Amino acid sequence: MVDVLLGLQWGDEGKGKIVDYFAPRYDLIARFQGGPNAGHTLYVQQKKIVLHQIPSGIFHEKTINLIGNGVVLDPVVLKKECETVASFGIDYRKNLFISERTNLILPTHRALDKASEVLKGNEKIGSTLKGIGPAYMDKTGRNALRVGDILDKNFTTQYIRLRLKHQKLLDSMNFHEDISGWEEEFFEAVDFMRGFNIVNGEYFINEKITSGKTVLAEGAQGSMLDVDFGTFPYVTSSNTISAGVCTGLGIAPQKIKEVIGVTKAYCTRVGSGPFPTELHDETGELLRKLGHEFGATTGRPRRCGWIDLVALKFAGMINGVTQLVMTKADVLDSFSDLKICESYKIDGEEKAEVPYQMAKLEIEPVYRSFAGWNADITGLSSFKDLPEAMKIYVNHINQYLGIKVKYISNGPGREQIILAP
Ligand code: GDP
Ligand code: IMO
Ligand code: MG
Repeated sequence: MVDVLLGLQWGDEGKGKIVDYFAPRYDLIARFQGGPNAGHTLYVQQKKIVLHQIPSGIFHEKTINLIGNGVVLDPVVLKKECETVASFGIDYRKNLFISERTNLILPTHRALDKASEVLKGNEKIGSTLKGIGPAYMDKTGRNALRVGDILDKNFTTQYIRLRLKHQKLLDSMNFHEDISGWEEEFFEAVDFMRGFNIVNGEYFINEKITSGKTVLAEGAQGSMLDVDFGTFPYVTSSNTISAGVCTGLGIAPQKIKEVIGVTKAYCTRVGSGPFPTELHDETGELLRKLGHEFGATTGRPRRCGWIDLVALKFAGMINGVTQLVMTKADVLDSFSDLKICESYKIDGEEKAEVPYQMAKLEIEPVYRSFAGWNADITGLSSFKDLPEAMKIYVNHINQYLGIKVKYISNGPGREQIILAP
């Protein structure tokens, strides 16, 4: 049995915290897509830690963690992350497995990402510059090197062949930075990775499922950044939605049971691209300040706005979400008025659907107003104690989406989560 947990907005919904909270219920946590563009924040022993590639179950001794074939993996980032995890006394070699089909991010992928963004000028995606797009292009272009290849004695030759190909592209893009330092780090990190549990991920995970183990597939990014269904071209390069779990881990669709969708009580986006409910005023500033909305991977300020039910309903549909987790509800504690977007006005016409080419349209959000609760909820642990105004806000979301908020997160701490009836 496999449950899926993924983000329903533009990323940073708080997936890391929630996976860490759920981890004791699962035998295996698996990442199925994305790479070091992700930044999943958890608090362990009151200390903040940001995971980029390692699944968020790593701090639970009994939980196995798998980096699946759908991920693009940067050995340099992995090595650094392993060192951080080890500083918490965790023996990552015991509980971390990597699929041999996982594609590698090379130093030249990072260079190509940078060169491509420079060439796009004002139309840049706002990529995290971790090499994600170029690495996935080499996967679908059938050039990539994969984790299993590092065990091949011809790995360096294969690397040089691909590197030369990349060099031609970089030359044509006028990219002339010296990346020899990156390459040195890369080969050191590849050596480090050779000592890992490198497995055939699809047999590994299916054997676990057959023997009755429970699996949680941990999404990265968010549904609105999905390469097919997101706000293209301002998206990431993988399928972030639940369908990506099957191709990203090698499991059949009927093995998937719950699809747990995570949404903030409001909305944020980092990088360029459409964001209908974005607030450019002091309310947006206040959300950023109270929510500490700065990117976990790049430190960039996140764009902030009201919750968008049109986009959430769309995400619920394409993912088959069965239950919702609402995070950062406490960030709204001091707002006296709240707004919820229920439809989009485009060319004078009101519609509650996500259009095909959001990036080219002028979208005006249509809001319904709600009273704020003006109370500190961070110390509460029971749904019945939540302020009435908050119950009304949550109930409205449940009804609009036809999916229930089952958990409300009221602070970044592991224990700050409330089960809704
Ligand atoms: P992810 O990428 O989806 O894992 O999310 P990030 O870690 O990038 O961003 C979420 C941020 O919100 C992190 O700084 C978390 O510590 C924090 N966070 C998560 N849940 C809550 C919550 O309920 N309340 C508050 N105030 N912060 C939260
Ligand atoms: P987590 O898992 C928020 C955004 C980037 C950029 C676009 C493409 O922490 O939620 P990429 O580097 O993938 O080519 O960038 O996607 N982006 C994210 N935004 N959270 C993330 O991950 C993101 N990963 C990528 O800002 O707009
Ligand atoms: Mg994040």
